[in-house]
Amino acid sequence: MKVVIKTKAILWVAFFTILSSPLLVSAAPPDAAAGKVKAQTCFACHGESGISISSEIPNLAAQPALSITYQLIQFRGQQRKGGAMEALAAALSDQDMRDIAAYYAALPPPPAKSGNADKIAKGQQIAGTQYCNSCHGAQLQGQKHIARLAGQSPEYLITQLKNIRSGARIDMDGTMGSAARGLSDDDIESLAAYAASLN
Ligand code: HEC
Ligand code: HEC
Repeated sequence: MKVVIKTKAILWVAFFTILSSPLLVSAAPPDAAAGKVKAQTCFACHGESGISISSEIPNLAAQPALSITYQLIQFRGQQRKGGAMEALAAALSDQDMRDIAAYYAALPPPPAKSGNADKIAKGQQIAGTQYCNSCHGAQLQGQKHIARLAGQSPEYLITQLKNIRSGARIDMDGTMGSAARGLSDDDIESLAAYAASLN
């Protein structure tokens, strides 16, 4: 059992080394202009500006490119399911994913959202004690393969945190799963309000 877990961890490390190593990834560097053309089918839901059309659909504007790419790979491999994303990602090559990710990553971030001041303050406090910032960044702006939470739809964040907590959404190495496990519904709502209030 231990050996299996270790092997899995090593595979993920190898996976990210390959993803983050431009020389090994492919010949062509990510091309945001080509990405915009390839993202036409995405605009109906995620918007041309990366601001989605509904609160259950995530904003993609200013998401770290590697986070977008990684999530698309997860959808394509059916490790992550939701919306119509598995079918949509199945049609994309690795190069398509990198180009589309480059396009969305370069867009201006979503505007900060107003919310209940008490919830926002409580969320900020929990984010500090739970070290959310240590991975997601000081302003929850995301980094590398870790998603931007700032300015994201609170409804979407609540759904994802509950799914990660229950294991319905499996995260790559279990770190996010353990971060979510101890959170109450109330904690999750506060964290979502706080993240949404940032820009
Ligand atoms: C029919 C609406 C729809 C279309 C079209 C669509 N998406 Fe999505 N997308 C969603 C929904 C809904 C989710 C949330 C899925 C979930 O519940 O986990 C999502 C999630 C994502 C995520 C995960 C974001 C995150 O923060 O984890 C990425 C990346 C993404 N979509 C990229 C794309 C790309 C690229 C395209 C075009 C090829 C696309 N989507 C087309 C509805 C759509
Ligand atoms: C050890 C690093 C780490 C810590 C600490 C951490 N996260 Fe994460 N988080 C991640 C990673 C990595 C992902 C991507 C998971 C995946 O899909 O494989 C993620 C994903 C998420 C998502 C899904 C985002 C999306 O766009 O779908 C949310 C929401 C989230 N984290 C919130 C939080 C909150 C709130 C905290 C603090 C309670 C937190 N995270 C703490 C690493 C971390």
